Amino acid sequence: MIELVDVHKGFTVRDRKTRRKKRIEAVRGVTFSVCPGEIYGLLGPNGAGKSTTLRLIAGLMQAERGRLRVCGFDAEREPEQARACIGYLSGDLNVYGRFTPREFLKLFGQFQDMEAHVAEGRAQALMERLGLLDFMDVRMEGFSTGQKQKVSVARALLHDPGVVVFDEPTTGLDVLTAKTVLDLLRELRAEGRTVIVSTHVMPMVEDICDRVGILFDGILHGDAPLEQLLSDRGARNLDEVFFQLAAGEA
Ligand SMILES: Nc1ncnc2c1ncn2[C@@H]1O[C@H](COP(=O)(O)OP(=O)(O)OP(=O)(O)O)[C@@H](O)[C@H]1O
Ligand SMILES: [Mg+2]
Repeated sequence: MIELVDVHKGFTVRDRKTRRKKRIEAVRGVTFSVCPGEIYGLLGPNGAGKSTTLRLIAGLMQAERGRLRVCGFDAEREPEQARACIGYLSGDLNVYGRFTPREFLKLFGQFQDMEAHVAEGRAQALMERLGLLDFMDVRMEGFSTGQKQKVSVARALLHDPGVVVFDEPTTGLDVLTAKTVLDLLRELRAEGRTVIVSTHVMPMVEDICDRVGILFDGILHGDAPLEQLLSDRGARNLDEVFFQLAAGEA
C-alpha cells in the first residue's frame, strides 16, 4: 500500500541568467493511495513532478510537508523499513558497464542484506523471465538500451518487494521489450503487489493502469480509472486532458 496525504516538495535553484535563487514547487499538496493488486499510472507532461513524487515514495528524498506511508511504514519515522519493501526503477539507465548482470545483481543482493544463494536464485529467475539469461556473464558496457533496462528491472525486483515504483519503465524500449516489461508488471499486480508507474504514453496507460492521476505543475488532477477521467473532462485521450490543463480549463 502507498498513501500520500498533502505531500509537498520544492527545490531552491539559482536562475542561470539573473543568478538569483528561486523556488520550484515540484509537488504541491498531492494526495492519493495505491492498493495492493493495483497498478496506478502517474501521468503528466515534462517537469510536472512525476519523478519527484516517485523519488519521495522510494525514500530517496523527504517530503517537506504532508504524510507518506509505504507498506504501513511512515516514510519519515521508519524510512529503512519503508525502503526495504520498495522496488524502485529510476528513469535513467544507470548500470555499471564494467560489471556483468550476475556481478551487478549479486552486489545489489548484498546491499539488500539478502543471503547470497537467495539473491543468486532470484537473479537467475528474473533474468530468465526477462529473456536475458544468455547475457548473465557478459559485461554490460555494450548492452543495448533495452538490455540495460531489463537488468535495471531485475535489480529493482531482486529483493521481492511488495511495492513496485517504476519511473517511465518503457521509455526508449521497442514494442517487444516494452511488452515484456508490461507483462511483468501485470504479473506483479496478479501477485497482489502495489504498483505505481509514471509515463506520458497513452497506450501504456490504457493497457495496464487500473487508476490514473495526472500531475500538472505539481498538482494532482483526477485520481480515477482512465475512462472516468476522460469522460469527466469530455476528452478523447490523455493529450486532450494535457491541453485542457495547459489552457487552465480543467
Ligand atoms: N534535484 C532537483 N533540484 C532542483 N530541481 C529539481 C530537482 N528535481 C526536480 N526538479 C524540478 O522539479 C520539477 C519537477 O521535476 P520532475 O523530474 O519531478 O518532473 P517529471 O514529471 O518527472 O518530468 P519528466 O517527464 O521530464 O521526467 C522540474 O521543474 C524540475 O526541474
Ligand atoms: Mg521524470
